[in-house]
Amino acid sequence: MVLPKAELHLHIEGTLEPELAFELAERNGVELPWAGTEALREAYRFQDLQSFLNLYYELMAVLRTERDFEDLADAYLARAAAQGVRHAEIFFDPQAHIARGVGMGTVVEGLWRALGRSREHHGVSTRLIMCFLRDESAESAMATLEEAKPYLDRITGVGLDSAEVGHPPAKFRAVYEAAAELGLRRVAHAGEEGPPAYIAEALDVLGVERIDHGLRCMEDPALVERLVRERVPLTLCPLSNVRLRAVDTLADHPLPAMLDAGLMCTVNSDDPAYFGGYAGDNFDAVRRVLGLSQERLRELARNSFLASFLEDEEELRAR
Ligand code: ADE
Ligand code: ZN
Repeated sequence: MVLPKAELHLHIEGTLEPELAFELAERNGVELPWAGTEALREAYRFQDLQSFLNLYYELMAVLRTERDFEDLADAYLARAAAQGVRHAEIFFDPQAHIARGVGMGTVVEGLWRALGRSREHHGVSTRLIMCFLRDESAESAMATLEEAKPYLDRITGVGLDSAEVGHPPAKFRAVYEAAAELGLRRVAHAGEEGPPAYIAEALDVLGVERIDHGLRCMEDPALVERLVRERVPLTLCPLSNVRLRAVDTLADHPLPAMLDAGLMCTVNSDDPAYFGGYAGDNFDAVRRVLGLSQERLRELARNSFLASFLEDEEELRAR
């Protein structure tokens, strides 16, 4: 049986499969620099986070209309449901679209067309988390939060993503304070490529409830102890870590050591169209390659619901 799980670390733009990208390019009259889906897949050889981000932002050029965002989200939800995902907390990157002349309304309304009917169509409940691009300015993040105000009934929380090193969490103190005042939940990527200090800073300065990735906490035993004590959920993405070379091979992934240390780990797909697998594929890979027991896999699935922003007891029990 497929293990029911929640997905807590998923960039909707990272679910853009080459086939859909070419379909949308045709629909919107966008010229792509790759000859076809095979040539595009060939380009998915990344050296690090930045080399991936360059392609990820480039391919977004095909996303232009509400219908494009709806189709993108629908395709993800269908695939996720087939792999046992019952609840998905979905990141989106509005600044990457606004910079191309695609407005906040187009993105949120388009995604919402798919998310609003996801429970009936796919059996997947959803939440939307708006991410700020950390390699853009703090002022741009604040302007983005301002633009999101008409849509806050659809947005559960804020996150922080894009190029990590050199862009510490504290840069976004003011916008996270403003988000908290608006009642938004808070998460942030930290410790993917950046140092363990960014993880502590995201907790202390931004007040985040979860850390996205958090892989590099293992370099700081005192930080591990704190994360265990405070039961801070980490949204790990094992196949992403291999493709972006945060680890040499999946066999070297610290997930078993992290679980043994008592960390509250979850397993997620990050950008599944680029990294070779959706949530269930990530679970399968860690079972096969890291030899995780059924009990450990169940713990990961249980953690995913406990660490989610599902609030309703009913809703949680129903999962
Ligand atoms: N945006 C999309 N995927 C990301 C990742 N793995 N890290 C940081 N920013 C991202
Ligand atoms: Zn991510």
